[in-house]
Amino acid sequence: MALYQATASAPVNIACIKYWGKRDTALILPTNSSLSVTLSQDHLRSTTSSRADASFAQGDRLWLNGKEEEIKAGGRTATCLAALRKWRKEVEEGDASEPKMSEWPLRIASYNNFPTAAGLASSASGLAALVASVSQLYQLPQTPSELSLIARQGSGSACRSLFGGFVAWRMGARDDGADSLAVQVAPREHWPEMHALICVVSDAKKGTSSTSGMQKTVATSTLLQHRIKHVVPQRMDEIERAIAERDFDAFAKLTMRDSNSFHAVCLDTEPPIFYLNDVSRAIIAVVEELNRASVAQGNGLVAAYTFDAGPNAVIYTLEANMPLIVNTINEYFPQTQAFPDPFKMLDKAHIAKP
Ligand code: PMV
Repeated sequence: MALYQATASAPVNIACIKYWGKRDTALILPTNSSLSVTLSQDHLRSTTSSRADASFAQGDRLWLNGKEEEIKAGGRTATCLAALRKWRKEVEEGDASEPKMSEWPLRIASYNNFPTAAGLASSASGLAALVASVSQLYQLPQTPSELSLIARQGSGSACRSLFGGFVAWRMGARDDGADSLAVQVAPREHWPEMHALICVVSDAKKGTSSTSGMQKTVATSTLLQHRIKHVVPQRMDEIERAIAERDFDAFAKLTMRDSNSFHAVCLDTEPPIFYLNDVSRAIIAVVEELNRASVAQGNGLVAAYTFDAGPNAVIYTLEANMPLIVNTINEYFPQTQAFPDPFKMLDKAHIAKP
């Protein structure tokens, strides 16, 4: 008897231009476009297996790192599975010989090989791997950008993890979200010298979730309105140009400024949200000093820091400068776990055939 099973793996992505704010919380439509780099390293990846079988007891079931999680009716995972089933039904309607998998219960098991919910974008890789795995199981004909419409509804930033390299999430203009999707701006091979170092300052679960943080920012921050209207649209154009031209100076400047703009907006929220801690701020100071010294010697910038909704730093640098960055971080921050290998990027999520 045929076994209907598929395994897919998706890496974490780290935004250079940050997504922060939803204009529609149910469909997860953002208040601004964003752009990220998809990382690839064995440490930071979600791997998900899914199986459909007519003989399973009714109801889908999900295990995260070996522990069963409830799939809440109307929740984000249920929304993604319903959308994937709808597309599977179209496949079955188009070919009567296709097994009626859309009617069978699913069993899904997902593993993260890094701390969950520690500001290391576990929801992004997790939901992307889930969508990639079930779409593979269902043999869906949709493109990765079309699948990103579904991953987006699981966790906004997940839509970007369906691609490798440099990825934009276009906010779109439609109310139904049909044009709010991810596209690859450039594959990893376009700029292979670009590397990233993840500095784990703390692997504790974060204090304010991105969902509740964004809601509060949208409701109270006046600075957010300035950011979404007058800052991000230009920055998206500029960073895409910097990537196209492999201009590290421009890329680094935009990345650092956007991280600081995002954290300024968090501080402008009522009550204020603090994601950075003293170690994070010290990392900013050290990178700024390395850049200042390099420019003073007539060279370009050497590194760019960025922080998501937590204290951990991601430092982008060109391969040639990685030893300097790793040594400096280890010297000044012996307590910080800087992953020893540079994080290379991937050109696409690995999708293993069943
Ligand atoms: O997709 P979420 O809800 O986990 O939000 C991610 C928000 C940031 O990581 C702070 C920024 C981003 O664009 O990834």
